Amino acid sequence: MEQRVRPSNTLQGELPVPGDKSISHRAAILSSIASGRARISNFSPSADCLSTLSCLRALGVQIESKENSLVISGQGWEGLAEPRDVLDAGNSATTMRLLSGLLSSQPFLSIISGDQSLRSRPMDRLIEPLRLMGAEVWGREHDSRAPLVIKGGQLHSIQYRLPIASAQVKSAILLAGLWAQGDTVIEEPMLSRDHTERLLQAMGAEVESQGLQIVLRPGAEPLRALDLNIPGDLSSAAFWLVAGTIHPRAKIKIMDVGINPKRSGIIEVLRAMGASIMVENQRLEGGEPVADLSVESRPLHGADISGELVPKLIDEIPVLAIAASLAQGKTTIREAQELRVKETDRIATTVQELSKFGAEIEELPDGMVIHGGKRLQGTECHSHWDHRLAMALGIAALVAEGETLIQDAEAVTISYPGFWQDLEMLSTD
Ligand code: S3P
Repeated sequence: MEQRVRPSNTLQGELPVPGDKSISHRAAILSSIASGRARISNFSPSADCLSTLSCLRALGVQIESKENSLVISGQGWEGLAEPRDVLDAGNSATTMRLLSGLLSSQPFLSIISGDQSLRSRPMDRLIEPLRLMGAEVWGREHDSRAPLVIKGGQLHSIQYRLPIASAQVKSAILLAGLWAQGDTVIEEPMLSRDHTERLLQAMGAEVESQGLQIVLRPGAEPLRALDLNIPGDLSSAAFWLVAGTIHPRAKIKIMDVGINPKRSGIIEVLRAMGASIMVENQRLEGGEPVADLSVESRPLHGADISGELVPKLIDEIPVLAIAASLAQGKTTIREAQELRVKETDRIATTVQELSKFGAEIEELPDGMVIHGGKRLQGTECHSHWDHRLAMALGIAALVAEGETLIQDAEAVTISYPGFWQDLEMLSTD
């Protein structure tokens, strides 16, 4: 699908964004192994979360849709069934990595694969700790790529220092550790999103985090089913936070957004660049902080982004690059080499596509340098089938001169299927 976007005269309105993708995956997976039925509302409509649901169904979990909610019948510790076919994680690394952790402890054989992008992403970082726990896991290319073959069984706990900050690998180890003998201890090099720890705690598991260390003590009882209302996805709201800041006539309010401090780097950085973002009506829902976010037009200046900030905004870097190309001065993004192993090599694809708008942006091995203050020109560009890049290009198009044509724009369905409709709704001629 091609999407045409014209610059809008004003950008105004109030909207919710879809339920958080990271929390939705975890809610579905943990509810499947809990005891009892859980009703989950505002579950993410993303293709990635639908991949998780279809894998769970293939493992024998009953999941029904009722009045805009999902009802998941938990199977307890031992109720999952051997899948009859290859599990398809689609484009979703969260599905593949979290489920691999879970399947490592199950007394049957599973094979999990995904689309071309997912089959090219690193899985050695996942296989290594699962093998140390006693799991039998194999993959293509010397056990580094999917499809993965997992022969699960009784595991033992490990003390493991993650070589990279990855919430997906951390969560896979925690899921495997739920059934392992002994306490699982994980140390992260930097803090990464902690949705798994929060949800496990809320469902009755013994998990403690102290600084960079997480300790999980396996319990005698299965997890307790928990009804949840999933907060809006800050990674989706990020597109409107940037658009609402860089558009010269904008005022946007985004309702019910998750503002977990390990995810909120985008708010911190935009504010440091001069943005006006109001965080109102703060509350806790299902153990996660939630708020309404209001944003309005402001001039920006450049910023330096590196170190511990990077895992807190890793998925928002493509759209942050749009903000940086309109900001006055230079923005440097470093120590973000993880971007090279996302749905696409997001350093290369962001630099390539943003350059087409006339942005002055240079590629670094571990990030990019953006010389801001340029007018962007509408252009023909390509999503590379990467959802976050497609949406970032949509935001660039809103503030560019003239029309933009985005190829393969349907990539947005991976996380935010209604993105183009919301863009239309907020724009006025
Ligand atoms: C996610 C973790 C991050 C993030 C991804 C979602 C998660 O990946 O980029 O979009 O839900 O755990 P890594 O764990 O590879 O850093």
